[in-house]
Amino acid sequence: MQVHVLSDSIVKLSHVRGMLGDSCEVTAELLNNPKMRNQHYEAVIAAIDIRRPESIVALKEISDDLACVPKRVFLLDQRSRLAMVQSYALGATTVLATHVSRSRLLAEVLGPEARKSESSEHAAEGIRIAAAAAEYIAAMFNAAMRGHPIDVKAATDVGCSIVDRVAEDGLTAWLDTVRDHHEGTYQHCLLVAGITADFGLSLKFGAQDMERLGLAAMLHDIGKANIPLSVLDKPGRLNDEERKLIETHPVTGFDALDTNAGVSRDILDVVRHHHEYLDGSGYPDGLCGKSISDLTRIVTISDIFAALIERRSYKPTMSREKAFGILRSMDSKLEMPLVSAFGKVALSR
Ligand SMILES: [Fe+2]
Ligand SMILES: [Fe+2]
Repeated sequence: MQVHVLSDSIVKLSHVRGMLGDSCEVTAELLNNPKMRNQHYEAVIAAIDIRRPESIVALKEISDDLACVPKRVFLLDQRSRLAMVQSYALGATTVLATHVSRSRLLAEVLGPEARKSESSEHAAEGIRIAAAAAEYIAAMFNAAMRGHPIDVKAATDVGCSIVDRVAEDGLTAWLDTVRDHHEGTYQHCLLVAGITADFGLSLKFGAQDMERLGLAAMLHDIGKANIPLSVLDKPGRLNDEERKLIETHPVTGFDALDTNAGVSRDILDVVRHHHEYLDGSGYPDGLCGKSISDLTRIVTISDIFAALIERRSYKPTMSREKAFGILRSMDSKLEMPLVSAFGKVALSR
C-alpha cells in the first residue's frame, strides 16, 4: 500500500513515518511546497496545525489531488470542534489526534484486517496505561505514608495520560479496563481520574483546566495513605470508629500536600473539601454553597459516582443508571445543574 505523509513540521513528519514503519510504502514531504500530483496513493496522512493559515492554503492548493486519494487521515494537535469541521471541509475522511497510538493509525490506514489486531493491541495499551497509573498511585501513597514529598510533575503526567486515553477511547472502555484489573483504593482513584477527565471533556475544558482536573483527581484521596487497608477496603458497613478514621483523610491529605512544592491552592482545596456538601452536612469543615469551589464540585460528583460503580468482590456492581439516579436524589447536597450536565458522562459516554 502506498501512503503519502504531509506535514508542516519536520518533527511530525518523521514521527508519523516512524509510526507507519515498514507496514506500507511511505513517501513524505513538507507542506510548504507539496508536489503530490500524478501519484496513485491509497492513503494520505496530513499531520498539521490547522490553525496555521499557510497550512490551510497549501492544502487548498492540492485539494484536487487529495480528492483522488481514497483515505485522507488528518492528525491534529488539538481536536476542537472547529478544527474537526475545518479538516473535513479540507477533505479529511478521518480526523485523529497527533498523539494517536500507532495501532490506531495503522487500523485507519490499512483497514479491517489491521483493525482486528488493533483492537486487541489497543485494549492491551489501555491495560498498560491503567497499570502504570496504579503503580504511580502506589508510589505516591507510599511517599505520603513516609512523609516524603509527592512527585507532582509525575502525578500531572499520569493524570494527562488518563485524559488522553479517555478522550481517545471513551469513558466506558476506561471504566471496564480499570474494574477488570484493579481493586480497592487504587481502583477508586483510577475511576475518579477517568470520570473527572470525561466530565471536563464534556464541559469543553481547555488544556490547562484539564491538567488541573487530572491532578486534582490523582491527589484527592492521598490522605488515605495512612489508613489501614483493612479499614479502607473493608467489605460491608464501617463502624463509628472506622468511619471517623476514614473521615480524617481530607485533612491528612491537605496537611501532607500543603508544604509540597508544585501543589496549587485550588488543588489543595479539592483535597480538603471533596466531601463537603452544599447544605453544610459534609466534612471536614461543614462548608456551604458558594464556599465550595467549582473544581471541588466537579471532583465531588465524580468521586461519589466512582464510589457507587466500583467493582467489589462481595457485592454486585451498581449500574451507571442507578448511580446517576442516586446523584440526582442528592439535590440539597450537590449542584443540580452540574449533576444534570454530568448525565451525559454517566449515561452515554
Ligand atoms: Fe475522599
Ligand atoms: Fe475518593
